[in-house]
Amino acid sequence: MTSPELVGEALPTKAIRKIKQMLGPWGVFLEGFIRNPVMVGSIIPSSRFTIRKMLAPVDWDNCRLFVEYGPGVGTFCRPVLQRLPRDGQLIVIDTNPLFIDYLKATISDSRFVPVLGSAADVEDIILAHGHDHADYVVSGLPFSTLPDGVGPAIAAATHRVLRKGGAFLVYQFTPRARDFMARHFTRIDHQMEMINVPPCFLYWGWKD
Ligand SMILES: C[S@@+](CC[C@H](N)C(=O)[O-])C[C@H]1O[C@@H](n2cnc3c(N)ncnc32)[C@H](O)[C@@H]1O
Repeated sequence: MTSPELVGEALPTKAIRKIKQMLGPWGVFLEGFIRNPVMVGSIIPSSRFTIRKMLAPVDWDNCRLFVEYGPGVGTFCRPVLQRLPRDGQLIVIDTNPLFIDYLKATISDSRFVPVLGSAADVEDIILAHGHDHADYVVSGLPFSTLPDGVGPAIAAATHRVLRKGGAFLVYQFTPRARDFMARHFTRIDHQMEMINVPPCFLYWGWKD
Protein backbone atom coordinates (compact mmCIF):
# COMPACT_ATOMS: atom_id res chain seq x y z
CA MET A 1 0.00 0.00 0.00
CA THR A 2 1.27 3.51 -0.82
CA SER A 3 2.09 5.53 2.28
CA PRO A 4 0.45 8.96 2.70
CA GLU A 5 3.97 10.54 2.52
CA LEU A 6 4.57 9.08 -0.93
CA VAL A 7 1.17 10.25 -2.19
CA GLY A 8 1.98 13.67 -0.79
CA GLU A 9 5.29 13.71 -2.70
CA ALA A 10 3.97 12.27 -5.96
CA LEU A 11 0.98 14.55 -6.35
CA PRO A 12 2.84 17.87 -6.49
CA THR A 13 5.42 16.42 -8.91
CA LYS A 14 2.64 15.26 -11.24
CA ALA A 15 0.84 18.57 -10.93
CA ILE A 16 4.04 20.51 -11.59
CA ARG A 17 4.74 18.42 -14.73
CA LYS A 18 1.22 19.13 -16.02
CA ILE A 19 1.49 22.87 -15.36
CA LYS A 20 4.92 22.88 -17.07
CA GLN A 21 3.52 21.21 -20.20
CA MET A 22 0.68 23.73 -20.36
CA LEU A 23 3.03 26.69 -19.98
CA GLY A 24 5.61 25.57 -22.61
CA PRO A 25 8.83 27.64 -22.39
CA TRP A 26 7.35 29.67 -19.52
CA GLY A 27 7.03 26.36 -17.60
CA VAL A 28 10.72 25.58 -18.16
CA PHE A 29 11.60 29.10 -17.02
CA LEU A 30 9.42 28.74 -13.90
CA GLU A 31 11.07 25.41 -13.09
CA GLY A 32 14.50 27.04 -13.47
CA PHE A 33 13.39 29.77 -11.04
CA ILE A 34 11.95 27.31 -8.51
CA ARG A 35 15.19 25.27 -8.54
CA ASN A 36 17.50 28.28 -8.36
CA PRO A 37 15.70 31.56 -7.56
CA VAL A 38 18.84 33.57 -6.72
CA MET A 39 20.62 32.82 -10.00
CA VAL A 40 17.51 33.18 -12.20
CA GLY A 41 16.15 36.25 -10.41
CA SER A 42 12.78 36.42 -12.23
CA ILE A 43 9.72 34.22 -12.71
CA ILE A 44 8.69 35.53 -16.14
CA PRO A 45 10.84 35.97 -19.27
CA SER A 46 11.40 39.49 -20.71
CA SER A 47 8.61 41.09 -22.75
CA ARG A 48 8.87 41.64 -26.51
CA PHE A 49 8.86 45.39 -25.81
CA THR A 50 12.01 45.04 -23.70
CA ILE A 51 13.66 42.91 -26.38
CA ARG A 52 12.83 45.34 -29.20
CA LYS A 53 14.02 48.39 -27.26
CA MET A 54 17.20 46.71 -26.01
CA LEU A 55 18.26 45.56 -29.48
CA ALA A 56 17.27 48.74 -31.36
CA PRO A 57 20.71 50.49 -31.28
CA VAL A 58 22.63 47.44 -32.55
CA ASP A 59 24.39 47.92 -35.89
CA TRP A 60 23.57 44.46 -37.29
CA ASP A 61 25.52 44.94 -40.55
CA ASN A 62 28.70 45.15 -38.50
CA CYS A 63 27.90 42.39 -36.05
CA ARG A 64 29.75 39.08 -36.45
CA LEU A 65 29.76 37.89 -32.86
CA PHE A 66 26.85 38.56 -30.53
CA VAL A 67 27.11 37.11 -27.01
CA GLU A 68 24.28 36.65 -24.54
CA TYR A 69 24.63 36.03 -20.78
CA GLY A 70 21.76 34.23 -19.06
CA PRO A 71 19.57 33.34 -22.07
CA GLY A 72 17.11 31.33 -19.95
CA VAL A 73 14.61 29.76 -22.37
CA GLY A 74 15.82 31.85 -25.31
CA THR A 75 13.58 34.92 -25.18
CA PHE A 76 16.33 37.04 -26.75
CA CYS A 77 17.94 34.26 -28.83
CA ARG A 78 15.27 34.07 -31.52
CA PRO A 79 15.00 37.86 -32.10
CA VAL A 80 18.82 38.10 -32.20
CA LEU A 81 19.04 35.27 -34.76
CA GLN A 82 16.38 37.00 -36.88
CA ARG A 83 18.55 40.13 -37.07
CA LEU A 84 22.05 38.60 -37.16
CA PRO A 85 23.87 38.42 -40.55
CA ARG A 86 24.14 34.97 -42.15
CA ASP A 87 27.85 34.73 -41.35
CA GLY A 88 27.36 35.91 -37.75
CA GLN A 89 27.42 33.81 -34.60
CA LEU A 90 25.39 33.95 -31.39
CA ILE A 91 27.13 32.46 -28.35
CA VAL A 92 24.88 32.17 -25.30
CA ILE A 93 26.25 31.36 -21.84
CA ASP A 94 24.15 30.09 -18.93
CA THR A 95 25.08 28.36 -15.67
CA ASN A 96 21.81 26.40 -15.62
CA PRO A 97 21.94 23.04 -17.47
CA LEU A 98 18.13 22.93 -17.61
CA PHE A 99 18.13 26.04 -19.83
CA ILE A 100 21.11 25.01 -21.98
CA ASP A 101 19.56 21.57 -22.65
CA TYR A 102 16.25 23.24 -23.51
CA LEU A 103 17.94 25.66 -25.95
CA LYS A 104 19.89 22.84 -27.63
CA ALA A 105 16.64 20.91 -28.09
CA THR A 106 14.55 23.79 -29.41
CA ILE A 107 16.78 26.09 -31.51
CA SER A 108 18.44 24.63 -34.57
CA ASP A 109 20.47 27.28 -36.34
CA SER A 110 24.09 26.79 -37.43
CA ARG A 111 24.93 30.26 -36.06
CA PHE A 112 23.70 29.38 -32.57
CA VAL A 113 26.17 28.16 -29.90
CA PRO A 114 24.74 27.43 -26.42
CA VAL A 115 27.43 27.04 -23.73
CA LEU A 116 27.02 25.74 -20.17
CA GLY A 117 29.28 27.99 -18.11
CA SER A 118 29.64 31.33 -16.37
CA ALA A 119 29.64 34.73 -18.02
CA ALA A 120 32.76 35.45 -15.96
CA ASP A 121 34.61 33.09 -18.35
CA VAL A 122 33.44 34.86 -21.51
CA GLU A 123 37.01 35.48 -22.78
CA ASP A 124 37.97 31.77 -22.70
CA ILE A 125 34.58 30.75 -24.11
CA ILE A 126 34.73 32.99 -27.19
CA LEU A 127 38.39 32.09 -27.75
CA ALA A 128 37.44 28.40 -27.75
CA HIS A 129 35.01 29.22 -30.58
CA GLY A 130 37.59 31.05 -32.68
CA HIS A 131 36.92 34.70 -31.72
CA ASP A 132 39.17 37.25 -30.08
CA HIS A 133 36.47 39.86 -29.51
CA ALA A 134 32.70 40.30 -29.44
CA ASP A 135 30.74 43.05 -31.19
CA TYR A 136 27.88 43.12 -28.67
CA VAL A 137 27.08 41.44 -25.37
CA VAL A 138 23.57 41.40 -23.90
CA SER A 139 22.99 40.46 -20.29
CA GLY A 140 19.89 39.36 -18.42
CA LEU A 141 21.90 38.37 -15.35
CA PRO A 142 20.42 39.27 -11.97
CA PHE A 143 23.43 41.45 -11.02
CA SER A 144 22.04 42.44 -7.62
CA THR A 145 21.68 38.82 -6.40
CA LEU A 146 24.84 37.31 -7.89
CA PRO A 147 27.44 36.03 -5.37
CA ASP A 148 29.90 38.69 -4.11
CA GLY A 149 32.50 39.71 -6.66
CA VAL A 150 30.83 37.97 -9.62
CA GLY A 151 29.07 41.08 -10.99
CA PRO A 152 32.25 43.26 -11.02
CA ALA A 153 34.27 40.38 -12.55
CA ILE A 154 31.69 39.96 -15.34
CA ALA A 155 31.57 43.70 -16.07
CA ALA A 156 35.40 43.83 -16.29
CA ALA A 157 35.63 40.74 -18.53
CA THR A 158 32.90 42.12 -20.79
CA HIS A 159 34.74 45.40 -21.28
CA ARG A 160 37.91 43.50 -22.22
CA VAL A 161 36.10 41.23 -24.66
CA LEU A 162 34.25 43.94 -26.60
CA ARG A 163 35.71 45.55 -29.70
CA LYS A 164 35.94 49.35 -29.89
CA GLY A 165 32.54 50.74 -30.85
CA GLY A 166 30.81 47.63 -29.47
CA ALA A 167 28.37 47.73 -26.57
CA PHE A 168 27.29 45.97 -23.39
CA LEU A 169 23.47 45.81 -23.32
CA VAL A 170 21.99 45.25 -19.87
CA TYR A 171 18.37 44.93 -18.66
CA GLN A 172 17.66 44.84 -14.95
CA PHE A 173 14.92 45.31 -12.36
CA THR A 174 17.18 47.52 -10.24
CA PRO A 175 19.63 50.26 -11.29
CA ARG A 176 22.49 48.45 -9.49
CA ALA A 177 24.01 46.98 -12.66
CA ARG A 178 24.84 50.50 -13.77
CA ASP A 179 27.34 50.79 -10.88
CA PHE A 180 29.25 47.75 -12.15
CA MET A 181 29.18 49.07 -15.73
CA ALA A 182 30.27 52.60 -14.79
CA ARG A 183 33.69 51.36 -13.59
CA HIS A 184 34.56 50.45 -17.19
CA PHE A 185 32.18 52.20 -19.60
CA THR A 186 32.37 55.99 -19.72
CA ARG A 187 29.33 56.41 -21.98
CA ILE A 188 26.19 54.67 -20.72
CA ASP A 189 22.81 55.36 -22.32
CA HIS A 190 19.70 54.39 -20.40
CA GLN A 191 15.93 54.03 -20.74
CA MET A 192 13.08 52.27 -18.94
CA GLU A 193 10.62 49.70 -20.26
CA MET A 194 7.31 49.76 -18.40
CA ILE A 195 5.69 46.91 -20.37
CA ASN A 196 7.65 44.18 -18.63
CA VAL A 197 7.04 42.22 -15.41
CA PRO A 198 8.31 44.05 -13.44
CA PRO A 199 9.23 47.24 -15.39
CA CYS A 200 12.95 47.23 -16.06
CA PHE A 201 15.96 49.48 -16.53
CA LEU A 202 17.82 49.28 -19.84
CA TYR A 203 21.48 50.28 -20.20
CA TRP A 204 23.83 50.46 -23.17
CA GLY A 205 27.51 50.78 -22.21
CA TRP A 206 29.56 51.80 -25.27
CA LYS A 207 33.24 50.90 -25.57
CA ASP A 208 35.13 53.94 -26.89
C1 LIG B 1 16.48 36.76 -15.35
S1 LIG B 1 17.07 35.28 -16.12
C2 LIG B 1 17.19 35.92 -17.78
C3 LIG B 1 16.14 35.36 -18.66
C4 LIG B 1 16.10 35.71 -20.13
N1 LIG B 1 17.31 36.26 -20.66
C5 LIG B 1 14.93 36.62 -20.46
O1 LIG B 1 15.12 37.68 -21.03
O2 LIG B 1 13.80 36.26 -20.18
C6 LIG B 1 18.76 35.20 -15.61
C7 LIG B 1 19.58 34.05 -16.22
O3 LIG B 1 20.94 34.21 -15.84
C8 LIG B 1 21.52 32.91 -15.61
N2 LIG B 1 22.76 33.11 -14.84
C9 LIG B 1 22.90 33.46 -13.53
N3 LIG B 1 24.21 33.63 -13.23
C10 LIG B 1 24.93 33.41 -14.37
C11 LIG B 1 26.32 33.49 -14.72
N4 LIG B 1 27.26 33.79 -13.82
N5 LIG B 1 26.67 33.24 -16.01
C12 LIG B 1 25.73 32.92 -16.95
N6 LIG B 1 24.41 32.84 -16.67
C13 LIG B 1 24.01 33.07 -15.41
C14 LIG B 1 20.39 32.14 -14.96
O4 LIG B 1 20.58 30.74 -15.03
C15 LIG B 1 19.19 32.63 -15.79
O5 LIG B 1 19.00 31.86 -16.93
